[in-house]
Amino acid sequence: MNKGSPTVDIIAGARPNFMKIAPILRAMQARQAAGGQLNYRLVHTGQHYDDKMSGDFFRQLGIPQPDVNLEVGSGSQAQQTANIMIRYEELLLAAPSAMCLVVGDVTSTMACAIAAQKLCIPVAHVEAGIRSGDWTMPEEINRRVTDAITNWFFTTSEVANTNLRNAGVEDERIFFVGNTMIDTLLANQHQFQPPAFWQALALHPQQYLVLTLHRPANVDNAETLTGMLMAVAAGARGAPVVFPAHPRTAKMLAALPALPSGIHLVDPQPYLEFNYLVRHAKGVVTDSGGVTEETTVMGVPCMTLRDSTERPETVTMGTNELLGTDPAALGPALAKLWAGQWKKGGIPEKWDGRTGERIVAKLEELLGA
Ligand code: UD1
Repeated sequence: MNKGSPTVDIIAGARPNFMKIAPILRAMQARQAAGGQLNYRLVHTGQHYDDKMSGDFFRQLGIPQPDVNLEVGSGSQAQQTANIMIRYEELLLAAPSAMCLVVGDVTSTMACAIAAQKLCIPVAHVEAGIRSGDWTMPEEINRRVTDAITNWFFTTSEVANTNLRNAGVEDERIFFVGNTMIDTLLANQHQFQPPAFWQALALHPQQYLVLTLHRPANVDNAETLTGMLMAVAAGARGAPVVFPAHPRTAKMLAALPALPSGIHLVDPQPYLEFNYLVRHAKGVVTDSGGVTEETTVMGVPCMTLRDSTERPETVTMGTNELLGTDPAALGPALAKLWAGQWKKGGIPEKWDGRTGERIVAKLEELLGA
């Protein structure tokens, strides 16, 4: 702690936040070791609290223990938002910071941005400006609200820059720095490790699929979810499908009579195991946004069960294809995969592993530290 120097709050709440903050914290620590004056306070909101959704990621990614845990736990969208705002406001009133840095698009991102800005504490948003255009996704509301009250925008793509300019944000407030999630991927790829069930399921590289589903639109209705599982199982042509299920999905699956054969339900996986599975998979079927970025960088074919994406570069440039939410699209897409005809793809600009450093250099400049 550099006494008298400004402190930035780094906010994290839910699983996809953790890989985004890790490189920022690492870059902050490196600057401090080199005499940099900027301080940070790591605030975990407690939106995700299980070891499997949170603790494992802190351990594997070397994220320091949070300085503060707001321990909000689960709840409806409004309950979580309200509880995070109340508790973060209390923290800021007791011990203000010089800036609130939020990442991504989860409830914690939006709630902390609002609480800080109302106390006139400037907000920096990492992964700002991306838009799916789909207002039925809570994440899209979170992005729009957050960006409407953000001072400093750190972006992953030119598309995000354009979205912000079109919304009236001046160029001086937009910093195109790249993708911190990809910093984490590149920094950890040499440590990816097979999960414990690799042998028990007799998995072999390029001979299985990975499936992840957690969007309410896909998993909250038993019929929709069953239709998707049947289509994946049929298109897998006997190859195993590894399905690490998010708690929300697991609850729904528990109420189904049985899973189609070939679909292997496993717990949410830690970071190094999950990405080992992805890197060696023949292909990935998902409704996640972050996974489409990781598959693009690893060159793994990716099929997204959504009608829109806030990450269009994973489609125009990367290995991702948007299939929509009709399971009928899976058959032809998986046939193309098995025929070896999936596109190869390239890597978007500045997804180079140095984004955390670029962000911290800019924070020092903004805060005069
Ligand atoms: C959140 C994010 C989503 C992200 C996802 C990744 C929002 C609006 N959504 O959705 O963008 O892709 O995380 O995981 O912020 N639960 C547990 N253990 C936990 C946390 C949650 O069992 O540690 C259960 C909750 O009780 C709840 C469900 O998981 O039933 C959903 O959790 P919630 O935090 O509401 O949102 P996610 O669906 O995880």
